[in-house]
Amino acid sequence: MDHRHSLDLKNAIRAIPDYPKPGIIFRDITTLLGDARAFRRAVDELVQPFAGLKIAKIAGIEARGFILGGAVAHQLSAGFVPVRKKGKLPHETVSVTYQLEYGTDEIEVHKDAVKRGERVLLVDDLVATGGTAEAAVNLLSSLGAEVVAACFIVDLPDLGGADKVRRLGVPVRTLVA
Ligand code: PRP
Ligand code: ADE
Repeated sequence: MDHRHSLDLKNAIRAIPDYPKPGIIFRDITTLLGDARAFRRAVDELVQPFAGLKIAKIAGIEARGFILGGAVAHQLSAGFVPVRKKGKLPHETVSVTYQLEYGTDEIEVHKDAVKRGERVLLVDDLVATGGTAEAAVNLLSSLGAEVVAACFIVDLPDLGGADKVRRLGVPVRTLVA
């Protein structure tokens, strides 16, 4: 990728020390989302390898993955599947509990959100420990979807999350580390 563009995206992300807990540096993408050029570039670069790969659905992870996932779905003319925090989806769901960098959480998806064999691209803003993405891959796979790849704007490489997802056999694309 063009180094200058990667630097622009990095500069558009704000770092907040000690949020939400002491010792965590929170990578705040709201500044990137509010910058029209950076937001557009981030979405364009996320989708770039996936055009023409017949992606049927984008699975976006609540909450920041919804913002990006909707834009990515539009670009790829794909459907959108919300992977939500527990208790928010009205129909029958499958769910899984997972570890976060700062706690535990549970995500779920509607059982009929993907069809067996359907090609799905997972989208989120950031991969840290990879616990969330791993849980989402497992959920979608349990429904028979083929998770073609996972993409994120930000990778926190010291936490090893991108490699954890790759070990599941899912290729990972990230834009800034
Ligand atoms: C953040 C981020 C990813 C996840 C990454 O979401 O948007 O979904 O953490 O962490 P991991 O790789 O260690 O699992 P968060 O759970 O804070 O939820 P939010 O988007 O609703 O703020
Ligand atoms: N999700 C998990 N770790 C995070 C971090 N350091 N910044 C923003 N979102 C996160």
